[in-house]
Amino acid sequence: MRASAVLLFSVIWHVLPTSASLNTPLSVSGRWIVDSTGANVTYAGTNWSGDLRAMIPEGLQYASISSTVSKIKSLGMNAIRLTFATEMVDDILDNGGDVTVKESLDIALGSVNGSKVWDDIQAMNPQITESTTRLQVFDMLAAECAAQDIYIHLDNHVSKAEWCCSETDGNAWWGDTYFDVPKWKRGLEYMVEHAKTWPNYASIGLRNEPRQPEVANAEYPYTWQTWYEQMTDAARLVHAANADTLIFLAGLDYDTTLAPIPTGAALDSAGTVFNLSSFAFADKLVLEIHNYDTSATSCATLASELWSDGFDALDTTDSSAIANVMPVVLTEFGFLQDSTTWEGVYATCLRDWIPQIHAGWTVWTLAGSYYIREGIEDYDETWVRTIVRFTLIKYYILTAGMLNHNWSDWRSPDAIVEGLAIMIDSSSTI
Ligand SMILES: *[C@@H]1O[C@H](CO)[C@@H](O)[C@H](O)[C@H]1NC(C)=O
Ligand SMILES: *[C@@H]1O[C@H](CO)[C@@H](O)[C@H](O)[C@H]1NC(C)=O
Ligand SMILES: *[C@@H]1O[C@H](CO)[C@@H](O)[C@H](O)[C@H]1NC(C)=O
Ligand SMILES: *[C@@H]1O[C@H](CO)[C@@H](O)[C@H](O)[C@H]1NC(C)=O
Ligand SMILES: *[C@@H]1O[C@H](CO)[C@@H](O)[C@H](O)[C@H]1NC(C)=O
Repeated sequence: MRASAVLLFSVIWHVLPTSASLNTPLSVSGRWIVDSTGANVTYAGTNWSGDLRAMIPEGLQYASISSTVSKIKSLGMNAIRLTFATEMVDDILDNGGDVTVKESLDIALGSVNGSKVWDDIQAMNPQITESTTRLQVFDMLAAECAAQDIYIHLDNHVSKAEWCCSETDGNAWWGDTYFDVPKWKRGLEYMVEHAKTWPNYASIGLRNEPRQPEVANAEYPYTWQTWYEQMTDAARLVHAANADTLIFLAGLDYDTTLAPIPTGAALDSAGTVFNLSSFAFADKLVLEIHNYDTSATSCATLASELWSDGFDALDTTDSSAIANVMPVVLTEFGFLQDSTTWEGVYATCLRDWIPQIHAGWTVWTLAGSYYIREGIEDYDETWVRTIVRFTLIKYYILTAGMLNHNWSDWRSPDAIVEGLAIMIDSSSTI
């Protein structure tokens, strides 16, 4: 849809509210994600975190759910990557049920600061009451997105609720300190079952950014074989719990590579391969990749790396050597939201190339600010992220949220209106 059509549509929408018109469930047809009418769907979305310490979707003390969703919609975005922590489900199932938003803020921020944020949340979002639980806020957010025709992609971001991701955070890999494997599977089943009540629910990422844990667990070595066993086992359980959901598989090294999956290369010495047609639910499987190579100096190089890291699953040319043709979505990328970075090689390249290859994407990130992140309250989403992997600095990331600290406006209007909007527009016209 062109931007003008989107604008016209949203004007009509607000005059004549009706039920959501998204055609779920989604499924996979070759390299395309299609809706229930068979029309192509290309995600053009953003991340909305709900997996940090408070386990509540962020920013509600600054803006109403509807105003934030309207901002996303005004750009023409069609999807939200809504992150959750397994810990929330553990609380629900093992610890006497979900806790209320108010209690959760008290726990995360202390009662003095928690009460202050609680008052602000109530002022901005009066529909959230003393008895509203965290998962009920996810429901409210999903409902607002449904009303504005935005798909929900759930993402299991972490086990223990906290800022992600490093090798030392205990959430890195199956069997890591907090990454309890049975609880992870149970948490996924619980969330996809719960999401059946959301008419716009579309997909789930089984695990965000699998990575080598600092301390190895002999039962779960850091190998493609472990990845294969765990991801396919969880995918079967998730499919059994909700046969409609798309299932996104993230790769190794912080989800920067899925290289052996499209090509069907051997994953271990026993010759195990990923064979799409061996899955009864092959029409529900999607690959997801992350990229923060913000120091890229050549688009050709960046694109060719992304291609061989997994985007080659989109290759349907006659000469293709791809064994498993599947959709691939760039579920994370991001860069500093100032007045110039959006014109640099990295941002320009992804803005052009991802729509050209007809791949979906969700940009890092919507916030704004966080209730609490890395122990700091009201943390402004402007950051430098250094991924240190066994003393090697692999990526140096400098990025920031789409929204300003108080969620009232774009952080860098140029980056959004002149940059991201173009990417959305070119994604949704194909
Ligand atoms: C999806 O888009 C591609 C590229 O424009 C097109 O070739 C294909 O036929 C489309 N599929 C459907 C079902 O519209
Ligand atoms: C409460 O917030 C203030 C700043 O607003 C901060 O200085 C203080 O450390 C916080 N209190 C606690 C218990 O974290
Ligand atoms: C993939 O699975 C299908 C269906 O089970 C089977 O027919 C085919 O031989 C398998 N291919 C490989 C390379 O194992
Ligand atoms: C979403 O936010 C989390 C923090 O909760 C961050 O780790 C992640 O990279 C973000 N993802 C996207 C796609 O924005
Ligand atoms: C929100 O932040 C912007 C930019 O810093 C500022 O101009 C505006 O006054 C703030 N709004 C509120 C309600 O605090």
